[in-house]
Amino acid sequence: MVKYVVKKGDRYWPSKAMKDIALVDKKIYKESQDPRKFWAKLARRGLVWNKKWDKVYEEKLPYFKWFKGGELNFSYNCLDRNLFKKGNKTALIFVPEPIDEKPIKWTYHELYQKVCKFSNVLRKHGIVKGDIVSIYLPLIPEALVAMLACTRIGAIHSVVFSAFSSDALKSRIQDGKAKLLITADGYYRRGEKVDLLKKAKKAVYRTSVKKVIVVPRLRKSFRSLSFKFKDFNKEMDSVGLMSEPVSMKSEDPLFILYTSGTTGKPKGVVHDTGGYAVYAKYTCLWNFNLLENDVLWCTADIGWITGHTYAFYGPLLNGSTTLIYEGSPDFPKIDRWWKIIEKHNVSAFYTAPTAIRMFMKAGDKYLKKHRMKSLKVLGSVGEPIDKDAWNWYFKKIGKGRCPIIDTWWQTETGGTLINVLPGVGPFVPTVAGKSFPGTKHLVVDDKGKIKKGKDIGFLVQEGPFAPGMLHGVYNDHKKYLDTYWRYWKKHKKKYYDSSDGAFITNGLIRITGRTDDVMKVAGHRISTAELEDAINEYKTVNECAVVPIADKIKGEVPVAFVVLKGRDIGNLEGRLKKHVDNKIGPTARPSFVYVVKDLPKTRSGKIMRRILKNVLNNEEPKGLMTLVNPDCVGEITELVKGKVNKGKMVRKR
Ligand code: WT7
Repeated sequence: MVKYVVKKGDRYWPSKAMKDIALVDKKIYKESQDPRKFWAKLARRGLVWNKKWDKVYEEKLPYFKWFKGGELNFSYNCLDRNLFKKGNKTALIFVPEPIDEKPIKWTYHELYQKVCKFSNVLRKHGIVKGDIVSIYLPLIPEALVAMLACTRIGAIHSVVFSAFSSDALKSRIQDGKAKLLITADGYYRRGEKVDLLKKAKKAVYRTSVKKVIVVPRLRKSFRSLSFKFKDFNKEMDSVGLMSEPVSMKSEDPLFILYTSGTTGKPKGVVHDTGGYAVYAKYTCLWNFNLLENDVLWCTADIGWITGHTYAFYGPLLNGSTTLIYEGSPDFPKIDRWWKIIEKHNVSAFYTAPTAIRMFMKAGDKYLKKHRMKSLKVLGSVGEPIDKDAWNWYFKKIGKGRCPIIDTWWQTETGGTLINVLPGVGPFVPTVAGKSFPGTKHLVVDDKGKIKKGKDIGFLVQEGPFAPGMLHGVYNDHKKYLDTYWRYWKKHKKKYYDSSDGAFITNGLIRITGRTDDVMKVAGHRISTAELEDAINEYKTVNECAVVPIADKIKGEVPVAFVVLKGRDIGNLEGRLKKHVDNKIGPTARPSFVYVVKDLPKTRSGKIMRRILKNVLNNEEPKGLMTLVNPDCVGEITELVKGKVNKGKMVRKR
């Protein structure tokens, strides 16, 4: 088997075999020293423009524009331009969860036809350029068709994760005043049929949504009693094949994706067309070193930015083949993923540390028989990857021969920002690495001064800001300004605030995690405030505080402390979890719920979450003097200890 890495000292570097096939080497960092020139060259080379831009980059903070005045169509760049040379090449491989259902393979030509048709379905229902279309679909091929069809006519898609609740979908529909919703009757998860339509129906009730198009995933067709709901396939049969792509300005919004911040309401992160396209294309190409017959499998759901950029758009913009899998990683058995890699010759595999830790826990005897020799590059994303998980991934999945590309980025950034490249390296456990060519990051102190040495500081980005970066928060200028720019503006710095901490080690960047009240639970971004708001809405809850605790598999999990209005009438934990499932979705479900008499508070009434964290981590709580009610800390400590002693809780990672 080809070895793509070599060990020198305590780190890994690309081997000769990797260097031979690498699309870029370390010269790329020199070539990118003038980011404007660099990105302009890539934009010219990598995309088809209907009109060339007048200005490569314009910065009027907090906003900036890439390829101003340029025009292009996103779906044209993903599809039409590949037809001539790659029309018969597989664009998409879909692996359904049920093992008796055959995988689907669509060529570029087939995908193109479906997208054209569906764009005509959208047109038929009155969707025009600039309209928002909500998409609430599982990871099935129609999701790609729906998303690309939007981009063909300039509609802005807003994908909502299918495991999110009806309420979560509704609030996102309302925020964007979406005119149309595309959903499915359901999907398969661990061998069970999951109903999606029920949630979708509830969500659209009394909203701006005029039509709902339903993909019949579980049944052969969908029969509706109301004119509002339409069967996806029947709609496809009702329209023609010709669909002219609408020319869009580079700065026109391509999609909105909601993500959690420090306040209760999720933010609609807006991504533009031209900048995002260039960024998605080249980060995908170089991170995964996509060669002609390669297959990229990014396991992320399309509900997340990783799914948008690396399961769908990045591979297509490169005329590559992408694989998606509908179901659970361990269904019907723990080796489902590895079987898929072998069967479909996956060359680049991209997943989250949480998944790796889950497999690690399950043992690795079964892995011996899966050689996975098609693999070349392994990627990691979504949360810090600890040493054990890194080593396991490297040895057991990569068989010690594939580089691990640990990619740090965010919903806001559109594509990866800090990671090493396969042909460059080095590959060091827990270290994300370097700024992607053409981008610049700094680790600074609270005044914005560059930190020296191994001190932890704030991770910021300096302009020209990466072309994949967000272009605002939908309908909320203030939130955009406050969240990403205001703090540094006060210190007269033009920095994008990542809200992550980091330090530099041997010239490489190591991420230490969020510096705000945002948790990463199994790679999902959960806002403390949003979860607290949801719990506070529960009828018997008077007030609550949520703090994260380390978890062996999920990285961290939320723990809720609640004060009740009356007496606990039993099984509050179960009822509250269900309530959170309904308000947000199971991803935000607190792992533990403690009913307490009082929460530690300062004189001004501020809840001291830090003290709760101390208690959970079995640390001496600091700053008790500042509390109005220091007595409650003892009570809480007893409660927590009780649970730990019963073996219900894991403490440190
Ligand atoms: C937050 C963003 C990246 C797309 C999917 C998640 C954390 C992400 C890493 C990494 C350490 C990471 C950060 C970031 N994060 N990747 N490789 N190492 N931390 O996007 O849901 O917007 O979350 O995820 O804390 O701010 P997201």
